[in-house]
Amino acid sequence: MSNHVNLDTLYRQVIMDHYKNPRNKGILDDSLTIDMNNPTCGDRIRLTLDIEDDVVKDAKFEGEGCSISMSSASMMTQAIKGKSLEEALKLSDIFSNMMLGQEYDEDIDLGDIEALQGVTKFPARIKCATLAWKAMEKGVNNSNE
Ligand code: FES
Repeated sequence: MSNHVNLDTLYRQVIMDHYKNPRNKGILDDSLTIDMNNPTCGDRIRLTLDIEDDVVKDAKFEGEGCSISMSSASMMTQAIKGKSLEEALKLSDIFSNMMLGQEYDEDIDLGDIEALQGVTKFPARIKCATLAWKAMEKGVNNSNE
């Protein structure tokens, strides 16, 4: 078995773990709420963000969708909690570049997010993976207004 296959298996396990045991599932009261759906399939996410002093204090989501969209939402909330808005948007940029197969800053530790790398091989699923990130970007940009 090559390393490549091992890595694919590992990534699949990480994705399924987030899908079956989503982190930060739920809704935060009195917080910024962003609803977004993927028009191609109708899957949806509701993201709630607690932003204070330009920092994401807390993030929770709920939704209905495929394993890629829901695991990506779980990973995204995990990644942005405690980050400044600037850092959260930077992560989103990196993720978007990763999805487009473009170069990105590999010095930044992406943690579990790296497991979604394989999605680039399935262009139809990229919208699944980016759904939660688009919701987060929208929320952060609106909070700056
Ligand atoms: Fe709908 Fe993935 S199939 S978000």
